[in-house]
Amino acid sequence: MTLTAFAVSILTNAAIASEGSFWFPPQASTTASTVDWVYYFIYWISVFFTVMITAAAIYFCVKFRSKKTAPAAAAAHNTALEIVWTVVPGVLCVFIFYFGLTGYMDTKTAPDDSYEIHVTGQKWNWTFTYPNGAVAGELHVPVHRPVRLIMTSNDVIHSFFIPAFRTKQDVVPGRYSEEWFEANEVGEFQVFCTEYCGTSHSAMLTKTFVHEQSDFDEWLHKAGDIHEGHTPAEAGEILTKQRGCLVCHSLDGSRKTGPSWQGIWGRNENLSDGSNVKVEENYIRQSILQPQSQIVAGYPGSMPTYQGQLKDKDITAIIEYLKTLR
Ligand code: CUA
Repeated sequence: MTLTAFAVSILTNAAIASEGSFWFPPQASTTASTVDWVYYFIYWISVFFTVMITAAAIYFCVKFRSKKTAPAAAAAHNTALEIVWTVVPGVLCVFIFYFGLTGYMDTKTAPDDSYEIHVTGQKWNWTFTYPNGAVAGELHVPVHRPVRLIMTSNDVIHSFFIPAFRTKQDVVPGRYSEEWFEANEVGEFQVFCTEYCGTSHSAMLTKTFVHEQSDFDEWLHKAGDIHEGHTPAEAGEILTKQRGCLVCHSLDGSRKTGPSWQGIWGRNENLSDGSNVKVEENYIRQSILQPQSQIVAGYPGSMPTYQGQLKDKDITAIIEYLKTLR
């Protein structure tokens, strides 16, 4: 963006809708323009008064700078001035309160006909569960349709933030929180975790994919049963991406929060209790269901359990996939 375009976008708030501005990503949801409007309203009021007050301060510093001139007369009460500087900020505050409150209520109250998706946060990935039982590690939604996210956490507090939709909400263990949006354009939008949640907080990223309704239906059908039309190893590879395994495990031998999967099959691992184990089917199965029971030496052992989240069929598929990384 050129400097001129940048200036214009700030002044008019117009270019933001499609391509974003210096400050903001695109306005990709129905509520984003209101949020930005309130933001810029407060922003320009702040700029206006900062400039005015600073200029006045400098002017008075210069005007009354030395003892050569007579000292300024002591300020007397001025009713007109008192009224102006009470009423003007008062009216501005009422405006800000009104637009802030109505905008906030809009972004907090999901329409009744919203499409519902369950979101689970855990260290350090997001899982999305759809009405047909499909599970994904990335959020897929239809365009021009309100979507309500019902969110909870398996461990600590996370926060689900989609900047392009201007929507953010804490995700808390032991209870449900929610947020909603209606995407107004097809595309790919970044998701962040915005509550510090441990070592790999900054890697707790995913994407939101906004599809046309027909493309979304097709995606949802396919995601409903990933075993259909795939070999177990292929299904396993899809599962490891969906469930966020690669946030902590690398495929290229590089060191992350968990042991690398490069050449993992058949490897001998030294465990933190001093024992030694060969990586085979039962070791992998146990590591997925009871990760704390056998921690590889030198790693934090922070992996959450997938008990109740992965079916036996899924675990078998992941095992077959790991075999292909020999
Ligand atoms: Cu999850 Cu930060």
